[in-house]
Amino acid sequence: MAAQILDGKKLSEQLLESLQKEVAMLKGTGIVPCLAVILVGERPDSKLYVQKKHDACKKIGIESKNIFLPEKISEKELIEKIKNLNSDAAVHGILVQLPLPLHINREKILNSISPEKDVDSFCSESLGLLCQGTETLASCTAKGIIKLIESTGIKIEGKNACIINHSIVVGKPLALMLLNRNATVSICHKATKNISDFTKKADILVSAAGKKNLVSGEIIKQGAIVIDAGIFVEEKKVFGDVDFESAKKIASWLTPVPGGVGPMTVACLMENTIIAAKKILGV
Ligand code: GUN
Repeated sequence: MAAQILDGKKLSEQLLESLQKEVAMLKGTGIVPCLAVILVGERPDSKLYVQKKHDACKKIGIESKNIFLPEKISEKELIEKIKNLNSDAAVHGILVQLPLPLHINREKILNSISPEKDVDSFCSESLGLLCQGTETLASCTAKGIIKLIESTGIKIEGKNACIINHSIVVGKPLALMLLNRNATVSICHKATKNISDFTKKADILVSAAGKKNLVSGEIIKQGAIVIDAGIFVEEKKVFGDVDFESAKKIASWLTPVPGGVGPMTVACLMENTIIAAKKILGV
């Protein structure tokens, strides 16, 4: 039987609709959640992602502050900007778009964001909390993937999960979130010898390598849930990691690209901004 499509666009729209109602209720009490997004440099892909975040804020009524900074900004100046946002009572969520230019130390920047406003959940305190099992502001892509898996109605507990990605943006937080739900997790990356040894055992397979056709039906376990979080752009067309046609003959559920993980990441960012605002303001 062909895989059922895990429609991230539809699920994200449902989430955004309920968040829009929550924002309207908060506004009734005088609270307007506000997200500040910092973009350093001129990368077209990053600009597009920042625009999508801004559009989602506008759609559901969250205040959106975009701060565009030059590629050559120093680490010290960038930290100064973040500190100003940390102490700005009108700002509840802060996100620094990645990747950063090479002269800037990513960890120093991420760790300068106040943990209570860290809606990406990439600072060491947020990642430490996730490791301990606290997911108050879990990182958006991982959270979106968990929501997609949960929407199938299939229990995560006891399943073998395989993630092809070991970054702090996707692989590491997702592995922790799956472990928090008692899955058995393997993480593959560029130095993994035979990824098929791991993918073939996976009831839940998540790929975020950015390599077109990395995952074909041959390396997928029969009946697996397959989540494609890869992004690869070729001749202005967006591809994921999964060869959709062969995968859909083997998987039970499969996310499309586009329209799978991407919209869920943005919706979860909106959710995190609201959670952060409510926690900061004690409501
Ligand atoms: N670049 C690609 N994905 C992300 C993300 O989830 N957060 C940030 N800050 N930058 C990114």
